[in-house]
Amino acid sequence: MVAGVFDSGAGGLTVVKSLLESHLFEQIIYFGDTARVPYGNKDKQTVVRYSLETLEFFNNFDIDMLIAACNTVSSLAIEELRAHADFQILGVIEPGVLALEKCITNKHDPILILGTQATITSGCYVDLLRQHGYTNITQKATGLFVPIVEEGISSESVLQETMKYYFHAIENPCAVILGCTHFPLLARSIGNYFGGIPLIHSGESIVAYLHTQQEFTQRYPHTHIQYFASENPHNLQAIAKRWLFPLG
Ligand code: DGL
Repeated sequence: MVAGVFDSGAGGLTVVKSLLESHLFEQIIYFGDTARVPYGNKDKQTVVRYSLETLEFFNNFDIDMLIAACNTVSSLAIEELRAHADFQILGVIEPGVLALEKCITNKHDPILILGTQATITSGCYVDLLRQHGYTNITQKATGLFVPIVEEGISSESVLQETMKYYFHAIENPCAVILGCTHFPLLARSIGNYFGGIPLIHSGESIVAYLHTQQEFTQRYPHTHIQYFASENPHNLQAIAKRWLFPLG
């Protein structure tokens, strides 16, 4: 099984980490649009255009499926990608909502969705959560978390101030959807802030989703990975080494 994985930049490596741990893929081809990141503050038309250009890149490879690791792409461009692709296109929104169902049984419990401005404005998570019967949904665009991760800022006081700024008026949720590839890297701080509630991570959600698909019968002890980026691929490779193989 060969997967293409697409993100606006390096953030999608958090999804790759889960895919590697799943052993479901023989090969992963990762593309980060590092020249044009962030997508989260762009409009739909632009995100669709960038996504279709990336689809053309993946047409050079023999992939079985393309995983849009990026929540912004999954929210704004998934239909357009599906309409133009010859292979399966998977986004992270539906897997995230299905993963939530495993940890929240009372549909009236408060759920918090965090994402980029574009993801939040699309209303994609809210619509799907409502279809699944959830009634108490709050969403918040927390774009500052993206540069905090990109800059490798680990100062707990910066994180605390940022979280206070975003969350001070928010009712304590029972679960948080980390609706952005970068946010799992802040999971410990976000989890602590809300008192250790379940956090929904796009990588873990997509792996759980893939396990329900019947074509995934085989396991591969090693996954071969190739990294591509629209700008500075060496930097992406260095980040991948740091995030995915910290002890390697
Ligand atoms: N990868 C994006 C997402 O998951 C976050 C970074 C960006 O704004 O491009 O929504």
